[in-house]
Amino acid sequence: FLLLNSHAQSTKSNVDEELVPQYELPEILVSEKGRKIKKPEQWEKIRRPEILHLFVQEVYGKVPGEIAPPEVIVYEDRGEAFGGKAIRKQIDLVFEGNGRTLSVGVLMYLPKAASPAPVILGYNFLGNHAIVDDPEIRISESWVRNNPSLGIVNNHFTEQSRGFDAESWPVEKMLDAGFGLVTVYYGEVDPDYDDFENGIHPLFYKEGQDHPAADEWASIGAWAWGLSRVMDYLETDSDVNAKQVIVFGHSRLGKTALWAVASDQRFAACISNDSGCMGAALSRRRFGETIGIANKNFPQWFCGNFKKYSGFEDYLPIDQHMLLALIAPRPLYVASATEDLWSDPKGEFLSAQAASAVYRLYGLTAIDDEQMPSPEHPVGGVLSYHLRTGKHAVKPFDWEQYLQWAKEYVVH
Ligand code: GCU
Repeated sequence: FLLLNSHAQSTKSNVDEELVPQYELPEILVSEKGRKIKKPEQWEKIRRPEILHLFVQEVYGKVPGEIAPPEVIVYEDRGEAFGGKAIRKQIDLVFEGNGRTLSVGVLMYLPKAASPAPVILGYNFLGNHAIVDDPEIRISESWVRNNPSLGIVNNHFTEQSRGFDAESWPVEKMLDAGFGLVTVYYGEVDPDYDDFENGIHPLFYKEGQDHPAADEWASIGAWAWGLSRVMDYLETDSDVNAKQVIVFGHSRLGKTALWAVASDQRFAACISNDSGCMGAALSRRRFGETIGIANKNFPQWFCGNFKKYSGFEDYLPIDQHMLLALIAPRPLYVASATEDLWSDPKGEFLSAQAASAVYRLYGLTAIDDEQMPSPEHPVGGVLSYHLRTGKHAVKPFDWEQYLQWAKEYVVH
């Protein structure tokens, strides 16, 4: 079907509900051999592995082997933060392979009142120093897209962006709710542009290789892998409750969070904020961003095998409700924003609704609502969903819901 692919058609965007085509979602609860999945054991032994394999093979790519565990360099072990409420830690994970090294800086704020603490683990877009106005936070040396209004020139961060993204990261509220925060600048694992010469990929190349093979990881696969390596570290840190690590991500990092939690069952829960196309949203609706658009604008995100689905959503053996289902029975929160049509809020809701079938197998509360809820009315339980009024962003309303939900369903 590649030959029939019309580039123009696959890169058109629609935001008119009337123009959403008829589609049929692949069955979550019927195995490849046609067996009906009725019990959690059948899900875990038969159907879940089938679906996971399809996402690895066709969408995110496989991790092409292993490298040695990273060296852990501790820059700060018990810094005082937030008026003594928290300790701050800063470490680097230094990976080595093919004679190259890659340093990934991890920033942690942990509540003193709750130790070992459940934590929220999330990548940030603008460097660790941007999430809190805290002069002690080290500034990343990694590549970043230029943004002169933030003082980012020559693809380097400067002091000017310190604390700039604090609204997206209400750390003190997290601490007060009993959660720590662990964050990493995503560009340290793989700079977000179409080139596979830097970041983690070259450390894994076999002789003569300079690009991942069609079934090997691209950037989202690499970022998800990075979260698992942070998890390896968290399992060794006695100030952290590694059984209660909630992965959070916004937008492309929400796509990453979903894949990380789907593919690594050590993570306790997942929060997907406005993750959109190839995150929580159903691809077959072709509403807002489509696979064709994402593959064209961000060829680095998905594996080579995924390119053939541009304009051919119905040929995909999966849809994104199945990615959400891979997270079951662990708590999952999917959220959208009314003005963020590019991410297809309705497609995110319908996807969470369809994934609820797997949560129900476990007898867990998920989304029973037939209709999309109105804004600011969260629905569900272990699997929850809300629509917030406003734009593509992470807002205080979102965090208020996430923290309350995490207290109810993750920390017990
Ligand atoms: C673009 C992209 C989205 C992505 C978003 C983001 O809009 O098309 O898929 O989620 O960037 O990461 O902010």
